[in-house]
Order: sequence, then structure tokens, then C-alpha cells
Amino acid sequence: MEPKNDTAALIQNHRSIRKFTEESVPKEVLEDIIRSAQWAPTSHNVQAYTIISVTDPDLREKLEELCGPQEYVGAAPVFLVFVADFHKHALISEDQGTAFEMEEAENVLVGAVDTALAAQNAFITAKAYGLGGVMIGGIRNAPHKVAQLLELPTWTFPVMGMCLGYPEHLPGQKPRFPLPGVWHHNKYQEKEVQEALPAFDQITRSYYQNRPVNPKRESWLEQMASYLAAPRRPQMTTFLKEQGFTFK
Ligand SMILES: Cc1cc2nc3c(=O)[nH]c(=O)nc-3n(C[C@H](O)[C@H](O)[C@H](O)COP(=O)(O)O)c2cc1C
Repeated sequence: MEPKNDTAALIQNHRSIRKFTEESVPKEVLEDIIRSAQWAPTSHNVQAYTIISVTDPDLREKLEELCGPQEYVGAAPVFLVFVADFHKHALISEDQGTAFEMEEAENVLVGAVDTALAAQNAFITAKAYGLGGVMIGGIRNAPHKVAQLLELPTWTFPVMGMCLGYPEHLPGQKPRFPLPGVWHHNKYQEKEVQEALPAFDQITRSYYQNRPVNPKRESWLEQMASYLAAPRRPQMTTFLKEQGFTFK
């Protein structure tokens, strides 16, 4: 059975794009991308996000540094910051004279999930316009400085950045985990996972060794092991607390 339109093919043709032509993105295209972001489903209809287009060259230069440095943050025709945002809701609660309960982890999850869904909707729509891009978790490297630069109020936190532009070329696709390792039936299938891990080790070792740009010796399993061996962005814990998400 064939899908009714080419959305699935567009999604399955994904690769992150980090090099762009100089062509700028028309304002109407960007507006449509943001409109699509807004049409993502949203927990309790909270719509807990704000999207900031960073066009000021000085700000872009500073963010490029803070995110890594990552050169494409400065060079991409478009750079968006997706911010989880309960500031709007704090204003509502204040206006209504009701409590504003933010001590549980739940609303951090709600904010992060809502923002990520909006971001992915934007990303897919950008691709439908022939654009490409990459999401930027590096925006959480220095959250205090990012918040200062973008004047983020309390009850907000940056979730990801997004570089967008017309791709200079299409790199190969990075392999994904074997389907039985991610799609289980009725209960978690430990056996499928145990089988998928060595299979993916082989697939990714060969992919990384043979890719034409930036070949590597390590497989995905080795990359994951070193990724998880050190604490990740511990500054986010203090930052979230300072932004009002106290986790009791
Ligand atoms: C939330 C998020 C944050 C990411 N942050 C970065 C980043 O800071 N820099 C970068 O080069 N790629 C970043 N990526 C891209 C991933 O590295 C990329 O999606 C992954 O390696 C798989 O490759 P592919 O997207 O080409 O399939 C991010 C992706 C996501 C979803």
C-alpha cells in the first residue's frame, strides 16, 4: 500500500545539513515554517514555546561561539532558537490570581516535548520547501549566557537551535537502529534489543569507516559509551532551577 502523499518519503530522506548556499530564505517561506510549528499537537493545549529568529549578526556571532563554536550557527541563512515557555502562563496565572504550580518535573517535560514537536514540524516544512538544516543542542552549552543575550524571562529555557538554508550538497544518510530494536509488540523485547545491538555495531562501523567525509573508526556503540561516560551539560540543572523550575 502506497502512502497518499510524499510526506513519508520526505521524512525518510532526512539527513542533517550543515553547509548552505548563500541563497536567502524568503520571508513568506519562513512564516509558513513557523505556522507549521504552531500546528504541532500540544499537551493540554498549553502551546508552551516561543521561537526566536536570530538575524542580528552580532548576536549570531556570539551564539556561534556559545554553541560550540559551531560555524554553521553563524553561517546558516536562518537560525531559530526554540524556547520552552511558561512565562506567558505565569502572566495568565498572575492576572487570574491563581496559583502557579511549577515544582514538579512534569512541566519541564511538557515544555520540552511541546517545543520539540513544534521544532520537528518546522523542520519537515522547511524540507518541503527544499531547505535543509540541523538542530542545535549546543544552545544549552551556556544557558545563562544564551538567556542573557536573548533576554529570556523566568519560566523559559532554550531547548534547541535550528540552522536552516538551501543545502550546498546532500550528504549520505546515517544508518538507523534495526526496526525490531525499536518497535516492540505488547511488551519490551529485551531479546530483540540484545540482537539489534551487535547488528548495529557492524552497520555503523562500516558506515563510519567508509563515509567520504570525516571517516571514523568507532561504531555507534562506542560513540554512545563515551557520550554517556561523562555528565551532560550539568549547568542545565542549575539553570532550570534558577528559571523557576525548582523540582522541589
Ligand atoms: C535536539 C537535537 C540537537 C542536536 N544538536 C546538534 C548540534 O548541536 N550540532 C550538530 O552538529 N548536530 C546536532 N544535532 C544533529 C544530530 O547530530 C543528528 O541528527 C544525528 O547525528 C543523526 O544524523 P542525521 O540527522 O544526519 O540523520 C542535533 C539533533 C537534535 C535532534
